[in-house]
Amino acid sequence: MARKMKAVQVRQARAPFEIVERDVPEPGPGQVRLAVEACGICHSDAITKEGWMPIQYPRVPGHEVVGRIDRVGPGVTAWKEGQHVGVGWHGGHCGQCDACRVGDFVTCVVQQVCGISYDGGYAEYMVAPQDALARVPEGMSSEDAAPLLCAGVTTFNSLRNMNVRPGDLVAVQGIGGLGHLGIQYARKLGYRTVAISRGGDKRQLALELGAHEYIDTEKGPVAEALQKLGGARVIMVTASSSSLAGELLGGLGRNGTLLILGAGSEPIPVSGLQLLLKRQRVQGWPSGIPQDSQDTLAFSKLADVRSRNEVFPLERAAEAYERMMSNHARFRVVLKMR
Ligand SMILES: NC(=O)c1ccc[n+]([C@@H]2O[C@H](COP(=O)([O-])OP(=O)(O)OC[C@H]3O[C@@H](n4cnc5c(N)ncnc54)[C@H](OP(=O)(O)O)[C@@H]3O)[C@@H](O)[C@H]2O)c1
Ligand SMILES: [Zn+2]
Repeated sequence: MARKMKAVQVRQARAPFEIVERDVPEPGPGQVRLAVEACGICHSDAITKEGWMPIQYPRVPGHEVVGRIDRVGPGVTAWKEGQHVGVGWHGGHCGQCDACRVGDFVTCVVQQVCGISYDGGYAEYMVAPQDALARVPEGMSSEDAAPLLCAGVTTFNSLRNMNVRPGDLVAVQGIGGLGHLGIQYARKLGYRTVAISRGGDKRQLALELGAHEYIDTEKGPVAEALQKLGGARVIMVTASSSSLAGELLGGLGRNGTLLILGAGSEPIPVSGLQLLLKRQRVQGWPSGIPQDSQDTLAFSKLADVRSRNEVFPLERAAEAYERMMSNHARFRVVLKMR
């Protein structure tokens, strides 16, 4: 008889999370099975919950997954049982399309997303393609590693690919899961780091995380405050508010980039003239491939960047998710399975 496991699934778009008992999945060719130890709850899990992408339901969300390889499927040579690994948003690529053939896995046309294309980490076991795995550094706990598989890699990997040099002004808007890591990376990468939040509540925390300056958007126009500091080289936007992104544009200096990590569906108001005169750009950035996740994990260990987590058991996933959605979490919510 098949072994059973606990999982948290969404039966259909906009349905509540439900705890179910399922068969422990078997890895197919080229796949591995993880005994999941921890899974971070990302704001993007709302995509699975609300059905904002085409999804086959029921679906188990979760794309900040860390565990031990518990079984390898036929044809898997790169991984073995017992290894400590993670799976992030980038849940595998086809390896055959034009993009993959030149190594550009980010734009693979049939790229899979963990927790969306297949069942993710809100479960005791999960199956993933072998090319979706990142190695967790020795000595790092699963709870510490999990948020780095999406919130971490998205902020670290986007920042390290911007045209920005030590000493430049980097602003991080929104101090949630992504933002609190973004502040730490910006500081550790040597930038003059400005945290932007609503109200004064998070000032002290932002400074503790490494911000040199703090801007409270309720105290006046944020663009003016940034211009007073000289104008930002990069503004990392983590809230999914297009109107706010439009306001932040005015805070960029020459050659500045508005880096869109949290995206709304509304258009962002942009003055073409301003972009042109100051050689500015608006750029989006989707997380990274598993090698980027591995780099993020390694850098985080090296530079002592750590996610601040609130830990919940799997059974309390609905409550944990609500904590994040209501902006009460300080700063990442992580489910712990074992
Ligand atoms: N690009 C990618 O690959 C990628 C990866 C992961 C997540 N995401 C997206 O990035 C966004 C952030 O994710 P997260 O997990 O960090 O979420 P989160 O923990 O909920 O943090 C978002 C933060 O944005 C701020 N915020 C929320 N609503 C706002 C509003 N209306 N106006 C101004 N600020 C607002 C809040 O910070 P304050 O309280 O400090 O204002 C909040 O803590 C989500 O949209 C998510 O889907 C993108
Ligand atoms: Zn995510």
